[in-house]
Amino acid sequence: MNVLGSTKILGVFGHPVSHSLSPVMHNAAIEALNIDFIYVPFHVLPDDLGRAVDGVRALSVAGVNVTIPHKERVIEHLDEISEEALRIRSVNTIINTGGWLRGESTDGRGFLRSAEAEWGKLGGASVVVLGAGGSAKAISFALAEIGCKLVIANRTRERAEELAGSLNSLFGNGKVSAVGLDLDTLSDEIRRADLLVNTTSVGMHPDVDGIPVSTELLHPGLLVYDLVYNPAVTRLVSEARSRGAKAVTGLGMLIYQGALSLELWTGQPAPIEVMRKAIEKVIKS
Ligand SMILES: NC(=O)c1ccc[n+]([C@@H]2O[C@H](COP(=O)([O-])OP(=O)(O)OC[C@H]3O[C@@H](n4cnc5c(N)ncnc54)[C@H](OP(=O)(O)O)[C@@H]3O)[C@@H](O)[C@H]2O)c1
Repeated sequence: MNVLGSTKILGVFGHPVSHSLSPVMHNAAIEALNIDFIYVPFHVLPDDLGRAVDGVRALSVAGVNVTIPHKERVIEHLDEISEEALRIRSVNTIINTGGWLRGESTDGRGFLRSAEAEWGKLGGASVVVLGAGGSAKAISFALAEIGCKLVIANRTRERAEELAGSLNSLFGNGKVSAVGLDLDTLSDEIRRADLLVNTTSVGMHPDVDGIPVSTELLHPGLLVYDLVYNPAVTRLVSEARSRGAKAVTGLGMLIYQGALSLELWTGQPAPIEVMRKAIEKVIKS
């Protein structure tokens, strides 16, 4: 990689950040596009977030991704927030235009692009979303926007109810319902569903034997999207496939949300396959 006086800096703010796959993915894309950028990790402690954002302005950093735990708190430090990011109160991408910082969220669209690249259009599908945290919010808003009927199922039922309430008030009542994770309710909902999305961290490395729903609920004809991408094949994905369902991990979402960020910063279409190969190489090694 050739760093020149003219090279534009991109990066990711996180705490921790050393595990982030974004530098590998973005630098591979930058090299393939032959553009004068570099992407670096920035370890930003929660108390330093405001000063780190000022640093983006002061150092003319062209753009940054924002990851855990800064996605919500960063909002107060920015000049402008996209409608989508404001709705879910989460920013994962900052674009610096001459010192004016705009916050966007590419998580929901990244999920949708990835899922539709696998399975085709999802508009109008019946979806059960497991979890009601940050990623569930981004994904549920994206799915509701294309007319999906949603059931939000969460361990803490009140959080599911809160999310369903905001979705119903925005997109029209009745399309979104909230349930807990009890087997009987989930069994009915998943039997009727086209798509099951796991947005909980259950099954993530090192607890690789974890599975967020009982295996007996997985049926042929169900599409299963597990946001967890480490391990490369989660228990949920392998159990779903062995029962005849089509299932993928969240690697695609990781790639597409990054691709959308890169497109916002550079104005060029991102090289998806280059980004995928770069990440797969790291995950396998
Ligand atoms: N593929 C991607 O690009 C991508 C992007 C974003 C996130 N992710 C992954 O998605 C997962 C969630 O991230 P997030 O930012 O949404 O986290 P979050 O805001 O902390 O939400 C976590 C959710 O998981 C639920 N949960 C946690 N442990 C559970 C358990 N043992 N049993 C049942 N439910 C449990 C929580 O339920 P309660 O409300 O009851 O606590 C909550 O709904 C992580 O594994 C993350 O790595 C992947």
